[in-house]
Amino acid sequence: MVLSVENLSKSFGENRVFHDISFSVNKGEIVCIRGKSGEGKTTLLRCLTSLETPDRGSIKINNVYLCREENKIIKYAQKSELQAIRQEIGLVFQSFNLFPHMSVMENLMEAPLFLKNDSYDNIKKRAEELLKGLELEGKENSYPFQLSGGQQQRVAIARACMLNPSVLCFDEPTSALDEETRGQISKIIRYLASEGIAIIIVTHDNAFADEIAHRIITMKDGKITIEEQ
Ligand SMILES: Nc1ncnc2c1ncn2[C@@H]1O[C@H](COP(=O)(O)OP(=O)(O)OP(=O)(O)O)[C@@H](O)[C@H]1O
Ligand SMILES: [Mg+2]
Repeated sequence: MVLSVENLSKSFGENRVFHDISFSVNKGEIVCIRGKSGEGKTTLLRCLTSLETPDRGSIKINNVYLCREENKIIKYAQKSELQAIRQEIGLVFQSFNLFPHMSVMENLMEAPLFLKNDSYDNIKKRAEELLKGLELEGKENSYPFQLSGGQQQRVAIARACMLNPSVLCFDEPTSALDEETRGQISKIIRYLASEGIAIIIVTHDNAFADEIAHRIITMKDGKITIEEQ
């Protein structure tokens, strides 16, 4: 089990977004999360990736607690472990969030140069491999505004993969894409899953979810239901 979510709850003031939800994701598994607008899909991804703090419950990655509840208070892992645990779970945002003033290569190398104990040459080599794998060869020195939406999204995926995460989350990866680019994204996501990465995809796109998911989680009224595909 790569990711295990237990009894997770989150409210914003009086607004109870989700309550007491539990699920897990295995290595190489693709899980889609569906639900109407406002049901809490993005909030759940933000809790998983430490951008938001849940109110109750626990999140475990590779059997290590990212956070857990102690005496009704959420406690994160010790500072010494926290950075490494957070790196195990990446997020590709709906709007890609590339750094506009940095080239493709700089976008990819920024975080690992800062966070990883690895040489510049090794990090660059990994970036080149990923760009090749995601059909972005030759785009190293381009800036985000010079790329199509689909290319920007693939750069965002490559960037999230630079830290070798065990889990990769996507928020609405196909919403801005045409049919053909959508096909490329599903191919790339399947490739990442075949490499052993656990994938969580928030999507409104039912056809895409039916095509790609091993399991579908539906969020409704603060609860989840899980269907095997
Ligand atoms: N930072 C915040 N502060 C207060 N309320 C918030 C915050 N973020 C989200 N919410 C509320 O939490 C609920 C869930 O929002 P969320 O963005 O998770 O929904 P979603 O399922 O991703 O919707 P969509 O499909 O439209 O993207 C909404 O009622 C929203 O208004
Ligand atoms: Mg959302």
